[in-house]
Amino acid sequence: MEKHSLGRIKEAYEGVGRYAWAYDGMMANKSFFGRLAMRCLWGISEKNYPRFLRLAFGGIPAGFGGRLLEVPVGTGVLSLPEYQKLPQASVTCLDYSQEMLSAARERAEQMELAQVSFCQGDVGNLPFEDKSFDLVLSVNGFHVFPNKSKAYIETWRMLRRGGIFCGCMYVRGENHITDLFVRQFCQRHELFCPPYETAESLKRRLEGLYEQVELSLVGSFAGFVCRK
Ligand SMILES: C[S@@+](CC[C@H](N)C(=O)[O-])C[C@H]1O[C@@H](n2cnc3c(N)ncnc32)[C@H](O)[C@@H]1O
Repeated sequence: MEKHSLGRIKEAYEGVGRYAWAYDGMMANKSFFGRLAMRCLWGISEKNYPRFLRLAFGGIPAGFGGRLLEVPVGTGVLSLPEYQKLPQASVTCLDYSQEMLSAARERAEQMELAQVSFCQGDVGNLPFEDKSFDLVLSVNGFHVFPNKSKAYIETWRMLRRGGIFCGCMYVRGENHITDLFVRQFCQRHELFCPPYETAESLKRRLEGLYEQVELSLVGSFAGFVCRK
């Protein structure tokens, strides 16, 4: 059942990767329809968009120069510009979909990001030793991953003691339109996978794993910064 679900999500994102320009237009809030979708479907207005980016990436300390794992990187439309500010960091970007990864690779080459490498894999079975990273970043991943318990454990396993787990994810119960769209569209097209956290359940879950947890909301997204 789990494998079946994972395969279908991969297939769905191979499709998204082939239309990466449309996905990127929405995520970067740049295209007309992208901005409309961000506002109407995700509850993030143009005014709120910078706050969304701050919640997604604000957990990375300024000038960070350690080992960073990003999962899932997708097309890298949001995260690769952040890595331009971190020339000293050693960044590993992982995703399950080859199409999404190849869009990210191409973007990194164009941006000449020599400190960033890419790897295909499953968040539920990460191909790295315990405590290999100082920071794990996960932007818009946990509402997609089919086996969420494994994903929480694996991302935790990657971090050294005192390491940072940060990023953002969709949480249900903040906006009726988003919740309806997620159920009727994203879920049916295997782009998202239930069960989804609420802000409260996410806080409890993270507090069960990490020493310090900060959670903030924008639209239907929760940004989190945790210390192991
Ligand atoms: C909504 S996209 C988010 C990508 C990027 N972080 C962003 O915000 O644009 C979700 C990504 O999760 C990836 N994904 C889904 N299941 C995965 C898994 N089990 N392991 C690793 N990546 C996975 C998909 O291939 C897709 O690229």
